[in-house]
Amino acid sequence: MTDLNAADLLTDELHDVTVTVNGAVHTARVPARRLLSDFLRHDLRLTGTHVGCEHGVCGACTVLVDGRPMRSCLMFAIQAQRHEITTVEGLGDSPERMNHVQRAFTECHGLQCGFCTPGFITTITAFLEDNPDPTEGEAREAVSGNLCRCTGYQNIVKSVLRAAELKRSEAEPPAAETAQSEESESR
Ligand code: FES
Ligand code: FES
Repeated sequence: MTDLNAADLLTDELHDVTVTVNGAVHTARVPARRLLSDFLRHDLRLTGTHVGCEHGVCGACTVLVDGRPMRSCLMFAIQAQRHEITTVEGLGDSPERMNHVQRAFTECHGLQCGFCTPGFITTITAFLEDNPDPTEGEAREAVSGNLCRCTGYQNIVKSVLRAAELKRSEAEPPAAETAQSEESESR
């Protein structure tokens, strides 16, 4: 990521930044101190990334940077130079195209006001890549860095476990295909 020094941050000088966001390449000129969260929301109009505390505590602004969850309020846009960013819109941008975590939140009522939800969705999506079959304790720990003021977390933990089931079932070949390949192996 681009190195910054304090002097860079004190000027209004504009810097070129090129980032891939949800598969599309974007080039812009931004001040060094433009936060990645503000760049996504204001420059690219991707308002699915929410901003709560703006100092790294609540997790609402979490996006994936090269597949890893990062708090976009703690990164400058120019530090994302040449990296791949995925926001919640990139995981599924309509009811017909939701990823497994979004579907699980819908099924398990994992949200109420929804303000915290994009940060949970991105965090859990990355977590399940590393741990596709978590225990309830691991699911709780995975969401422990994200704050939700509405739900009491029970349905969010259920959503993590349900999302893991959905992801595993997507990865499994259909039953008919499995039976067919077992039959041909036994011949
Ligand atoms: S807005 Fe970034 S962690 Fe709260
Ligand atoms: S659903 Fe309202 S803050 Fe989490």
